[in-house]
Amino acid sequence: MKKGMTIIACAFFLLPFMLLSVHSQEDMESVDRSVFDNPQRPAAVFKHEAHNETAGIEECNECHHVYEDGKLVEDESSEDQRCADCHGPEDQGNQPSLVKAFHVNCKGCHKKQKKGPIMCGECHVR
Ligand code: HEC
Ligand code: HEC
Ligand code: HEC
Ligand code: HEC
Repeated sequence: MKKGMTIIACAFFLLPFMLLSVHSQEDMESVDRSVFDNPQRPAAVFKHEAHNETAGIEECNECHHVYEDGKLVEDESSEDQRCADCHGPEDQGNQPSLVKAFHVNCKGCHKKQKKGPIMCGECHVR
């Protein structure tokens, strides 16, 4: 009886953490696009963990970068922020708009490495 109560108490205690982990990058299947009011395309496929593992990307700041005075900061990363926190609807100087930021980041690397999708329908899969 006591053991049962302890298990229930533990489950209650852990519940918020279990719910939180649903929103972690491990479970990510596509990029959260809630910032786009009227999306024209289906959500782009991006299985965060699996993608970065097969692509062999070691550094988080390959995508989650930090710039200071227009210079990339080598050892810092911004994974606690969303791309949309910095990239707005329009270009601002060297800082591309959000859509461009995604496309340049994703397609740019795929083109450079000659690996990974570059056609619209390969990322925005129906
Ligand atoms: C390498 C993957 C990739 C390719 C290829 C790609 N996109 Fe995207 N695109 C994204 C990501 C990531 C986003 C941001 C998240 C989202 O909307 O799913 C995005 C967002 C968008 C958006 C803004 C959201 C919306 O649906 O309105 C449009 C429009 C768009 N893409 C059009 C295109 C078109 C047109 C092409 C082909 C010329 C294309 N994309 C090719 C990855 C890609
Ligand atoms: C190939 C690009 C890329 C790499 C490399 C990458 N990420 Fe991400 N990550 C993304 C994108 C895109 C998002 C979605 C950002 C957004 O919604 O604005 C994201 C989201 C996240 C989130 C938020 C998850 C959520 O659901 O809100 C965390 C945490 C995260 N990444 C951690 C990491 C860590 C840690 C590493 C390195 C081990 C890493 N990322 C490497 C592209 C990348
Ligand atoms: C903390 C703010 C910040 C966050 C978060 C951020 N960026 Fe940026 N990004 C910048 C700034 C500032 C620049 C302009 C750099 C310069 O001056 O050349 C930039 C430039 C870029 C560029 C063009 C130059 C380059 O590096 O290729 C791309 C593409 C880009 N960001 C994609 C992304 C993506 C994708 C995400 C999310 C995974 C993201 N950014 C998150 C601040 C940010
Ligand atoms: C630094 C390089 C790099 C960046 C940045 C990058 N990718 Fe990739 N991506 C790759 C490589 C390399 C592959 C091929 C992996 C393999 O060998 O199958 C790939 C494969 C893919 C695939 C097909 C395989 C799979 O995982 O489903 C998709 C979809 C994809 N990328 C989407 C994206 C999106 C969306 C973004 C931007 C948010 C992105 N990639 C950013 C390097 C990158």
